[in-house]
Amino acid sequence: MKTKKTKVKATRSLYDLKSAITELKQKFDAESKTDIENLQNRYLGKKGLINDLMKGLKDVPKEMRPVAGQLLNELKANLEHQLTLLGNGATEETADKIDLTIPGLKPKVGHMHPISQAMEEITHIFEKIGFTRVRYPEVDWDYYVFESLNMPPNHPARDEWETFFVDVPKHKQMGKMVLTTHTTNGQVREMERLKSKPPIRMINIGRCYRRQQDVTHTQMFHQFDGLVIDRGIHIQHLKGTLDYFAEQFYGPGTKSRIRPFHFKFTEPSFEVDFSCHICHGTGKKGRGKCKFCKSGWHEVGGAGMVHPNVLKAGGIDPDEYTGFAFGWGVERTYTLKEGLNIDDIRLIYSGDLKFLEQF
Ligand code: PHE
Repeated sequence: MKTKKTKVKATRSLYDLKSAITELKQKFDAESKTDIENLQNRYLGKKGLINDLMKGLKDVPKEMRPVAGQLLNELKANLEHQLTLLGNGATEETADKIDLTIPGLKPKVGHMHPISQAMEEITHIFEKIGFTRVRYPEVDWDYYVFESLNMPPNHPARDEWETFFVDVPKHKQMGKMVLTTHTTNGQVREMERLKSKPPIRMINIGRCYRRQQDVTHTQMFHQFDGLVIDRGIHIQHLKGTLDYFAEQFYGPGTKSRIRPFHFKFTEPSFEVDFSCHICHGTGKKGRGKCKFCKSGWHEVGGAGMVHPNVLKAGGIDPDEYTGFAFGWGVERTYTLKEGLNIDDIRLIYSGDLKFLEQF
């Protein structure tokens, strides 16, 4: 006759936990203490043995839990202490004999993510010449992301932006809701914020999303968009601003170059290159080619003179005012600066400390 298997809920008694602690201590004592980092990860890491025991706490009867928790905390503190000593070249026996001449242990301190550092630096550079840093929604209406930027519904130019759509009902005037594909969604919003009254000098930095993911693309990335609108603004103002940024961000002597291109929201439009600061724009290194740029220049992003239809969408008279705009990716701008040839750009967002601690 078949008997039905019944599940037995694992209830740990305090006694069980104590023996698990003793076992873990014995295991630790028996370890060879050469690779401290490895021990740190295996015992104290997120998925480490101590955390495994911690997870078992919920199975300990409620009234015993405070005692059990205390025992586990003591165990954790004890192992942390031992590992710090070992990391310092000491052993449990020599630890008591304090040598006051040894330099102190440097506590581990975190730092800002490299991309956040880059955004701060970019903000600072533009603030110095009178731009205001703004932020606009990352989840926005089609109207701000496309339509007000001279891209009517069903315009083929929209295909270039690999858009994620949000599954909510369409807004009557604003259309569908999307994850912003570029920070250019801030341009008409900024004109509206300032009640269509130039001068406008905005730097909008934020997250963008596109349906592409490979070694050179992440689905989430950052862009910054600059927008200047006033009377008598012309291409030389744009070029001067790009040269200024190039020198400030990449170092003295870095130049910018603009090449004809096409965007619906600017006319004329350009692609922007910066001279390579490793070979100083020559494309040569010794007798060979510069391995970093190959041609002396790096393409970074787009720019142009604001299209009259975009000014109109923001309530600004294009016969009275003109403007320039530019926009490009923070990740690319940053990796170029550091001379980094990162094989897989996704590493930046992997949360891997071995990678991040280098910056
Ligand atoms: N939004 C464009 C892009 O994502 C860049 C751009 C911004 C071009 C502003 C011109 C003016 O590629």
